[in-house]
Amino acid sequence: MEEIRTERLSELSAPLLSWYAENKKALPWRADATPYHVWVSEIMLQQTRTAAVIPYYERFLCELPTVSALASVSDERLMKLWEGLGYYSRARNLKKAAQILVDSYDAKLPDTLPALLSLPGIGEYTAGAIASIAFGLPEPAVDGNVLRVVMRYLGCRADITSPAVKTQVAAGLRAIYPSGEEAGLFTQAIMELGENLCIPNGEPRCEHCPLRKQCEAKRRGWTGMLPVKSPKKERRKEERTVFLLSCRGRYAVRKRPAGGLLAGLWEFPNVLGKLTPDEAAEYVRTLGTDVLSCEPCAEAVHVFTHVEWHMTGYLAECTSPAENFIWERAQIIRDHYAVPTALRAFMKIMAQDAGETGEG
Ligand code: ADE
Repeated sequence: MEEIRTERLSELSAPLLSWYAENKKALPWRADATPYHVWVSEIMLQQTRTAAVIPYYERFLCELPTVSALASVSDERLMKLWEGLGYYSRARNLKKAAQILVDSYDAKLPDTLPALLSLPGIGEYTAGAIASIAFGLPEPAVDGNVLRVVMRYLGCRADITSPAVKTQVAAGLRAIYPSGEEAGLFTQAIMELGENLCIPNGEPRCEHCPLRKQCEAKRRGWTGMLPVKSPKKERRKEERTVFLLSCRGRYAVRKRPAGGLLAGLWEFPNVLGKLTPDEAAEYVRTLGTDVLSCEPCAEAVHVFTHVEWHMTGYLAECTSPAENFIWERAQIIRDHYAVPTALRAFMKIMAQDAGETGEG
């Protein structure tokens, strides 16, 4: 592995903090950075763009303004508040951790790294972000943005998918981290630089970067090839057939199992494989109902981290509400059931169908 020469990081802090003071974005969690607010925002911001997070963050805190409120929210309501953000275990872990905080920490976030790390859903990154932003501790929060900025700045070709590289970058940063208010400013500044200037795809905006004079990748013309990332494993492709079953103005939904992908969310009945129209109608009959019509209605693809769903949909009108499903009106499903974004195309077809038949 290429050696990571972290000594040069000591010159990064001053220009970065000046740039941030001038250029920082006004974001809702920065206006009132309590530990609870920082925690919720950092969990939402994992794998999700800032602009997409803002409305979720505001709605979430409006309804769950305190750790205690989060600890006692129902699972159904929690999933509905998270609907569309994806990676739903983040929300479940937030609630579990809130219950621990209520039981053992006087409903407050602890202000030490080990105690933060002991909570569900809080790993090295989130613990570092809370410790520095909410408590002013000199702890780095190393995410993909930070790794990209650091590797370009140092002109280092080590593979950032390697955990050892991440550990070394964290140690190098910890050695030069400011404390007190500047700790949190540093954490947010380096992430924001990675999100807005030192961007991953497309040309980085070096002309606006406060580090352009010291950046080794810029000097050598390496910004396009850094950071080095070993290729990911290929995702599995899964064909699925999704059924929008209607019966007298109601539609069939079922709850996904408690473990695994999209655990506990609601979905339309579906099976593995791409069924032909005849096979689809036949399958609906096996559910214990006659079929008045069964038409192809949509094709959709959804990409998860490890799997892609390639979905073929059928809209089928049934003569009776088959057992094993919950049958609800379209509007009730839309307003009260947490349905994953993967099924958005079918939610739309349901809304259209309900509107057209006046049964919504
Ligand atoms: N991305 C995730 N957390 C962030 C933060 N606190 N500031 C800027 N970008 C972020």
